[in-house]
Amino acid sequence: MDKYFKILGRFLTTFCLSFSLFNFTAQDGEKLFKANCASCHHPIKNATGPKMQGALQKWQDAGEEDLIYEWVANPSKLYNSGKSKMAKAIWDWSPTAMTPQGHLSREEVESIFTYVDNYAPPVAAVVGGGDTVNANTNDSESSDYWWWIISFLLVFVLFAIFGVRRELSAAIAVKEGREIDSTRTFVNSTKEWVLRNWFVTVLLIVGIALFSGLEVFNRAYQLGVYQDYMPSQPVAYSHKLHAGKMGIECKYCHHSAEKSKHAGIPSTNVCMNCHAVVHEGAQYGAEEINKLHKAVGYNKNKQAYNLDKFGNRIEDPIVWNKAHNLPDHVYFSHAQHVHPNTANIDCRQCHGPVQNYTLGRVSTIDEVNAYAKTDEGMEKGLIQLTKPLLTMGWCIECHNKKEIDLASSGYYEEIHDRLKLRADVNNKIFEDDKVTVKELGGWECAKCHY
Ligand code: HEC
Ligand code: HEC
Ligand code: HEC
Ligand code: HEC
Ligand code: HEC
Ligand code: HEC
Repeated sequence: MDKYFKILGRFLTTFCLSFSLFNFTAQDGEKLFKANCASCHHPIKNATGPKMQGALQKWQDAGEEDLIYEWVANPSKLYNSGKSKMAKAIWDWSPTAMTPQGHLSREEVESIFTYVDNYAPPVAAVVGGGDTVNANTNDSESSDYWWWIISFLLVFVLFAIFGVRRELSAAIAVKEGREIDSTRTFVNSTKEWVLRNWFVTVLLIVGIALFSGLEVFNRAYQLGVYQDYMPSQPVAYSHKLHAGKMGIECKYCHHSAEKSKHAGIPSTNVCMNCHAVVHEGAQYGAEEINKLHKAVGYNKNKQAYNLDKFGNRIEDPIVWNKAHNLPDHVYFSHAQHVHPNTANIDCRQCHGPVQNYTLGRVSTIDEVNAYAKTDEGMEKGLIQLTKPLLTMGWCIECHNKKEIDLASSGYYEEIHDRLKLRADVNNKIFEDDKVTVKELGGWECAKCHY
């Protein structure tokens, strides 16, 4: 009898382990694609980005198999290096820039390509009154569902067998005239079984831990922390086109950054400086720019604004969704950080290479660091930081690393001078011979918290 239990135990363990592992590798490519690429790419249709099926083959045929992974990690870096014909060929495909995907390993990107290259369009099943349903949409969810049912059934079978076994041994005991051990409860016999089959038990526990660990990890990963947050917007505005290709200064549109707490989102009037005459774009034709005209009440045929009977413009302002959002208990001022007389920090230190993005979004620290290493980044004096953007750790880390340029800081000069003259304070704060923001009080809780 015990032999069968052993076999059953082994079978169960192997089954659980291989089922869960298989499930994860098989879905990896799909999950990664959906989490990182599907916002712009469809496997077999052109979207914001080109269709992805066959792309790997195309690059392989051009002898650029390795470069396609460099492309995915950082498109603009590969393009700027000039070593890739394929990057050059695809670069102007869209005014939208592809988001660098450097956080993915080569194996992960390979699994994405495997997924898209094996992608077949979902089969439409006809149901009831002729409604077509997508037979494939809930694929991963329904397999999760099955996984739970199977687990439940297995546990149920296991318990049932235990029960039968107990009845049987009791019956045998009665038949052989032995006394029934009434202390032999279910718990006791389970304990015995566990001791006798400790190896199977350990495997089972490891299997379950692995499964739940991976599941938790996967969920946490998809929560998508704060970094890389890009809300959808009412108009398909592109920084890549305006700030990148056309080279419009950030401060032309975000003009309150130097003067106030907020950098602000430009009003449609700023857009109209050009779009009163530019009525069409290369990607969307008139469609998106028409939305601007509607928002400010502009009649492009008459080249005039619609006015009500009091002579006021009839407007319906665009409401942009905010990507960055610090909690209310934090005080942050742009002016303090970007004005030439204060910290004079380039926007890209905190927002990444926005000129390569379409819509504004919260960068990842990896993107910022990658940009800081480029010639352009070094020229702008960007430093490397490690903490995720918009966290307290990030503010604090920079305040400890960023040196103050004592020579050039306009209205802070006086304070700086006073600090330099105070030997007592001096000795304490100039331990490392550097004056960072921390030395000026940038680590005091009340500077950032109301
Ligand atoms: C923000 C949108 C966006 C995201 C997200 C994105 N891409 Fe792209 N991708 C593009 C655009 C746009 C292009 C075309 C190049 C251009 O116009 O700059 C492109 C081009 C490509 C190409 C070259 C295709 C060809 O035919 O040569 C590959 C390969 C690619 N992307 C892979 C990926 C992978 C893999 C992911 C996810 C890990 C991803 N992309 C995520 C927008 C995106
Ligand atoms: C020291 C880091 C830092 C620098 C430098 C910086 N920003 Fe910001 N930016 C932030 C933070 C933090 C927020 C979020 C503020 C909030 O939610 O209150 C933000 C928010 C924004 C927003 C959203 C609207 C708003 O005002 O809250 C825009 C737009 C923006 N920044 C543009 C810029 C531009 C343009 C520059 C350069 C002129 C710049 N930023 C420089 C840290 C920075
Ligand atoms: C300095 C001039 C200028 C300003 C300011 C400007 N744009 Fe543009 N914009 C252009 C030009 C030029 C084009 C057409 C470029 C092309 O497609 O070749 C364009 C194209 C567009 C397109 C269409 C893109 C496409 O490919 O179809 C949109 C949408 C757009 N702009 C939105 C805005 C918004 C929103 C603002 C204000 C926040 C703005 N623009 C401010 C010059 C400007
Ligand atoms: C032609 C005008 C224009 C220029 C130039 C421009 N932006 Fe923007 N920016 C916008 C508009 C419009 C939005 C709101 C839509 C969006 O999120 O993309 C925006 C949004 C943003 C956001 C997201 C704000 C938030 O939290 O929602 C950031 C950050 C930002 N811009 C930074 C920059 C930086 C850095 C530059 C210079 C490299 C720049 N912008 C140049 C018009 C502009
Ligand atoms: C990239 C570096 C950097 C980051 C990131 C940064 N700061 Fe700063 N911050 C500075 C510098 C440099 C100064 C000093 C400016 C000056 O010369 O007065 C400063 C000054 C300040 C001050 C004034 C301190 C004083 O002594 O008066 C406050 C408040 C502040 N920062 C808040 C924040 C908050 C909140 C964040 C995060 C949301 C943040 N900073 C992120 C570089 C940074
Ligand atoms: C340079 C600016 C800065 C300084 C100095 C600073 N904080 Fe913060 N703090 C922040 C920012 C930004 C956040 C919001 C982070 C987030 O939302 O993840 C924060 C969040 C917090 C929170 C809430 C945590 C949470 O999970 O929301 C607490 C509590 C806090 N800070 C306490 C302190 C204390 C105590 C000090 C002094 C020792 C201090 N802070 C100094 C910028 C600062």
